[in-house]
Parts: sequence; structure tokens; C-alpha cells
Amino acid sequence: MARRDPHSYTDDTQVETESFDLVARLDFANRILRGEVTLTFRAPGGGTLDLDTRDLAIETVRDDAGRVLPFTLHPAEPIFGARLAIELPEGTRAVRIRYRTSPDASALQWLAPAQTAGGTHPFLFSQCQAIHARSVIPLQDTPRLRVTYRVELQIPRALRAVVAAAHRGRTEDGQGDTAIERYEMPQPIPPYLFAFAVGDLASQDLSPRSRVWAEPSVVAKAAHEFAGVEDMIVAAEALFGPYDWERFDILTMPPSFPYGGMENPRLTFLTPTLIAGDRSLVSVLAHELAHSWTGNLVTNANAEHFWLNEGFTVFAERRILEVTAGLEAAELDAALGRRELDQAVERFAAQPVLTRLRTQLAGIDPDDAFSQVPYEKGYYFLRALEEVAGRDVFARWLKRYIADFRFGAITTDDFLAHFEAALPSVLAKVDAERWIDGEGVPANAPRARSEKLAAIEALGAAVPEPAMANAWTPIEWQLYLESVPRPATTCAQLDAMFGLTRSTNYEVLVSWLVLAVGSGYEAALPRVEQVLGEVGRMKYLRPLYAALIAADRRSVAAKLFATHRGSYHPIARQMVEGVLRK
Ligand code: BES
Ligand code: ZN
Repeated sequence: MARRDPHSYTDDTQVETESFDLVARLDFANRILRGEVTLTFRAPGGGTLDLDTRDLAIETVRDDAGRVLPFTLHPAEPIFGARLAIELPEGTRAVRIRYRTSPDASALQWLAPAQTAGGTHPFLFSQCQAIHARSVIPLQDTPRLRVTYRVELQIPRALRAVVAAAHRGRTEDGQGDTAIERYEMPQPIPPYLFAFAVGDLASQDLSPRSRVWAEPSVVAKAAHEFAGVEDMIVAAEALFGPYDWERFDILTMPPSFPYGGMENPRLTFLTPTLIAGDRSLVSVLAHELAHSWTGNLVTNANAEHFWLNEGFTVFAERRILEVTAGLEAAELDAALGRRELDQAVERFAAQPVLTRLRTQLAGIDPDDAFSQVPYEKGYYFLRALEEVAGRDVFARWLKRYIADFRFGAITTDDFLAHFEAALPSVLAKVDAERWIDGEGVPANAPRARSEKLAAIEALGAAVPEPAMANAWTPIEWQLYLESVPRPATTCAQLDAMFGLTRSTNYEVLVSWLVLAVGSGYEAALPRVEQVLGEVGRMKYLRPLYAALIAADRRSVAAKLFATHRGSYHPIARQMVEGVLRK
């Protein structure tokens, strides 16, 4: 037995899945997906096949000839879920599993009509990273094994299904009021990148290879916000090589989507909180696009090497931003990133091993290990390497790294060997070991440089002149608001001058509200309550709930959570429960 992923039962002495075919009926009334999935192997084989499942009911297992195969669904274990062990006769090419999901499937959020913008149709979406695909499909849920797939979804006729794949057609000639949508994913992906959504969706083209999907009342605003996507793709191709996924479509999610974005291939998911009206929050779009190279082409072999996905992607995101928004904007973004990194290191004071780039996650749920460390420490490590190697040399190496590991899955050691072979002794010069296996942030980490940042830092605790602050971008506001604590009287003054409690830019608003709660500025509390009831993005829920608790308002926090927990995503719910337990 050889299990190489600390979060999967996948055993590399067994057959490997090459592709899956999923036929599924979505039962919105009962919040159940009834599926039949065929797993086809790279080569025929026999013996035991261990699959990952979570909260699945397994009905039957057959081989490709229709013969019933014996299986055992073992009791669920923490983090992993339940091992489904199937006995394969020698020479088996494929297995076909009939199953259904649980209404509590950790990858699925079923939204009632009232939780959508339109208010009349339900909505369903998946979020599989890191180890939730197994709650939708029984499979070998490790990013080391790439698969192609085909999907047929039977849905209510009034709705539309979108999948992170190529559309192959829709038929409405079935009985009743259902429709069938067919999709096919020709590029092999790690299972965590499987994704779909079903709802009342409309679209608008942004370029020949990109369109945005959203609920009808949101489409125009989303199209305006994300109109710069083609410029970003062009910039990214020049930096990282050809775009390998044909299309780059965007799905604007309902507000309960727990992340800022998710790089589902061919169909990036984005939180609607990015729609600020002025395109000021599109760095998240640049980030998800950048994953098309770093993460989706070159994939972490398991969650212990997550920094290879996210650190590289933050680096790539800031390269794209430099081209599309300018050096100053990219540097301000990096400065804010450094602030978030320091906060994350502080948050893990009791678990400093989670501040390493390479982590050991046996017994740890990747959702619990999630932080800005792999993102920003990873970014600053790559920036340190770049500073020693030189920009052009580093850029050439990065392009080659992507080309060499394209459609592969790698570990930190694979990266180290590749880098050392290409640019000998640079790793030693930045003390790479200290970055990778050490805790916290090395003292000689590079610093972001920007005149605007210096101007904000020079303000200290002072209130800015309107002429200055009215020209600030959201990032400058965040850098200002998060720099030092301020008394409630200063908060009142800032609010009177700049209307911060009324801000419709969520990044600015949440920074402000966290400051206001910490300062005891009571006038902001109703807005805090409102935000906690209207968005489910964890980046906002976490600091707001934490600020309430730090300010001795635990009962307010608990009451708000009790009111809204039902509308939060299962992953967000678990995260807030953790914050409230502290
Ligand atoms: N892949 C991540 C989201 C993710 C990570 C989902 C781990 C599940 C487990 C995505 O690319 C991401 O990093 N999103 C960020 C935005 C980004 C600009 C830093 C987010 O959601 O905050
Ligand atoms: Zn990312």
C-alpha cells in the first residue's frame, strides 16, 4: 500500500483513473444529486481500488460489462471521509457507480430562491478545493492524478447549468419540465478543479474567448467590472506562455460564495463583492487568471505544497497587474499583502509550523490550515529569488518551469531541483531552506516600494486632508485604515469626513468596520450586522467576527451567527465556528 497524499485514500499501487463520465439528476427539492459515474482507468487492472467519498450513499458498483462488483464503504474517518473499497476482477477497464449525495455535501451549496438576486429560482454551486470533490463524486481525490471528464446534468428547464468544461449542448426534449446540459473537459485536471453551477443565468461576451455569466440582474454590472479581462489574458500570455484552456469564462457567484475567486478552468468563479462599479478590485480576476498557468498547469502534488499554487499565483498576478495597472498599483498590492502575511503569522502564534511554506498536514484539515502564508510568504520568497537572479533571468526561468511541468503535479523538491539546475546557487544566497522549512518571515524579506505607500505611512495616526484621501484607491484606504489603532473620536471624525460606513467598496468597508469595532465606534455596528447578513466571503466574515470577539461583543457575534449560519456556505460556517470557539 502506498498512499502519497495525506488527505486521500488514493494508493499508487492500484489502477489510476484517466477520465470520468458523470450523469446526474439534480433534485432541488431534496438537495440531492443522484449520480452515475463511470471511472475509466489508464490501463486495465485488478485487485482493490480505494476511492475517496464523503457523505455519499453508494447504491451499486458494476464493471464496464455491467457485472456487479463487491464493495465496502468503510466508516468515515476525520478529515478524509469514508474509504470506498471496490474489488476489481483482473483486466477491469472501468467501474460504474450509482450513488447519491447528502444534503450536507461539503462541496455543494444549495441556495433557496430568497438567497439569490432574482429571488424566484434556486441556485446550486460546487466548491471542491481542497478535498471536497469526494462529497460530489466517488473518486481518487488527489491532485497528483489528472482526469478529463464528461458531464450530463439533468436540471429544471427554467435553469441553466454551467460547468468548468466545454459546452456540448442542451436538450429539452426529455419528459416533464427538465433539461439536460452536456459538457466535456478535454484538458486533464486535478479533481479539485471540477466545478459546476446551476441557476437562472445569463451571459455577456467580453471578448472572443471570454464571457461573463451571472444572474440576469447582475450581468451588465459584472460585464462592466470585468471588461478588462482580455487585456489581462494578453499580458499573461506574454509573461507565462500560451493560454492552454481555450476559453476563459467567468461566473459571478451569489454573495454566499465563500472565496474571493476560484480558478475553475475555463470558468473562473468570482465573488460579487468585486463589483465595486469602478474596476478597483480586479486584482482577484488577475489572480484567478494567473492560476491558468500556476496551479492549473503546474499543480501542487498535494495540499502540503499549496504554496506552489498560491505563492506562484500571487507572484504572477502582480506581474499581470504591473502591465495592466502599473508598477505603483502592483507595489501597493504587495505592501498590503505583507500586512496580511504578518497578521496570518500572528494568528498562528500557537501553531507556528503552519507558517512554513512546506507544511506537514497529516491529521490537519487543509481548510483549517488555510491562511495568507502560502500566498504572501510564497510571493516574497519568489521575489527574493528574483532580486538575486535578476528580473529577466527569473522571468525566463519561470516560463521554462511552466513549460517543463505543464499538465503535471509537483512537490516543493521538484521545484527546488528545477530551479537549482537552471540557476545554481541562487537558492543558497537567499537561504531558501529558511523560507521553505522555517517559521515566520525571514528578516531579510524584500520590501514593497512605493511613494504612495510612504505618504500613507508618514501620516501615522493623523487624519488625512480631503484633497489627499479623496484621491486614494481602495488599497490606499486599506493601508491607511489598517496601519495603526485609532480612538473612537478619530473614527467619528473620519466617518464624518469620508462617509466610510456608507462605503460600497467591500475591501474599504470591511477594513473600516474592523477598525471601528476595535475602537468602540458604535455608530458602525448596524453596518457590521448588515454585512454579516449579506455576504458569506470568508475574507470578510473572519475579521469581522474576530473583531467583535476581541471587542468583548461575543454575545452579539453569537447572535448574528445563529441568525445567519443557515445562509453561510458549509466551509464558512465551519470557519466561523472556529473563530467563535476561541
Ligand atoms: N484557489 C483559491 C481559493 C481556494 C483556496 C479555495 C483553497 C479553496 C481552498 C483562489 O485562487 C484564491 O486564492 N482566492 C483568493 C483571492 C486571491 C486574490 C488571493 C480569495 O478567495 O481570497
Ligand atoms: Zn489562488
